Amino acid sequence: MKIFVTRKIPEPGLAVLKKEFTLEVNPEDRVLSKEEIIKGIKGKDGLLCLLTDPIDKEVIDAEPGLKMIASYAVGYDNIDIAAATKRRIPVSNTPGVLTETTAELAWALLFTVARRIVEGDTFTREGKFTGWAPMLLLGQDVSHKTLGVIGTGRIGTAFALKSQGFHMNVLYADEQRNEPLEQQLGATKVPLQKLLKESDFISIHVPLTKDTFHLIDEKELRMMKKTAILINTARGPIINEKALVKALSEQWIFGAGLDVYEKEPALSPEFKQLKNVILQPHTGSGTIETRTKMALMAAENLRIGLQGGIPPNCINKEVFQNKPTG
Ligand code: DGY
Repeated sequence: MKIFVTRKIPEPGLAVLKKEFTLEVNPEDRVLSKEEIIKGIKGKDGLLCLLTDPIDKEVIDAEPGLKMIASYAVGYDNIDIAAATKRRIPVSNTPGVLTETTAELAWALLFTVARRIVEGDTFTREGKFTGWAPMLLLGQDVSHKTLGVIGTGRIGTAFALKSQGFHMNVLYADEQRNEPLEQQLGATKVPLQKLLKESDFISIHVPLTKDTFHLIDEKELRMMKKTAILINTARGPIINEKALVKALSEQWIFGAGLDVYEKEPALSPEFKQLKNVILQPHTGSGTIETRTKMALMAAENLRIGLQGGIPPNCINKEVFQNKPTG
């Protein structure tokens, strides 16, 4: 069987696949266009794709022999799951292995904004540090403040749990109650508006869906404290980026830490001029260990799926109903 890999992933994942299948890996280290992906999957049984690949109905239907799609990401808003399900093509993602890593980046961004680390680094490098000064680059304490977590799935829960050493008052907004968070942290489930009004630090951990598109818009930003810090390591379009630029420029809030952007990889040009926003190039899962685990997980799912089994991280398990496996 043949597999198309849209971009090189860590070698251990490719090695798993090379043992059993014929691989065609995009030789260039760049995102492929939709047309190139369509060309790449011609005559292939499996597709290993990334979160940057638009795997829509047209792509899915371009190869009638396509049997399995494995995504090298946990978020799958770039894949038309309904179209794949209609064709009875299982789609897998990489949940769990990147949970702590992404939660750690959210904390890194939170501290970087709160303590103005990038400004301090630039100031020091530029030779401006001439001695300790009482009013130099004053930031904000993190301990004993109120932490607002929007979405407490795997990553949101891990993020919230990491607040333990900082003795924070934790608020969360979610459709479901999160009992472990309530028991371990004394966290309180609140409506989103209350969370926005009362939190010092707000971190977004919901998937991108039609319901979460622009969940944070001008109205929501205006509800936040003037001292609030907003962190987004989930998906860019959850925040209306234009409204955020306005909020940061006019200092409705203290700052923001972003790993994701509304029209990624394009940035709102204003961000580059603003000192109160920290910009990271979508590296939430970007550690050597985690990217290797993601590669292995994506490869294992694809191997199992192509060999007729149920991939352990299959998103659309319904494709296996009444379908012989094994
Ligand atoms: C994912 O896997 O969805 C993350 O955004 C990667 O950083």
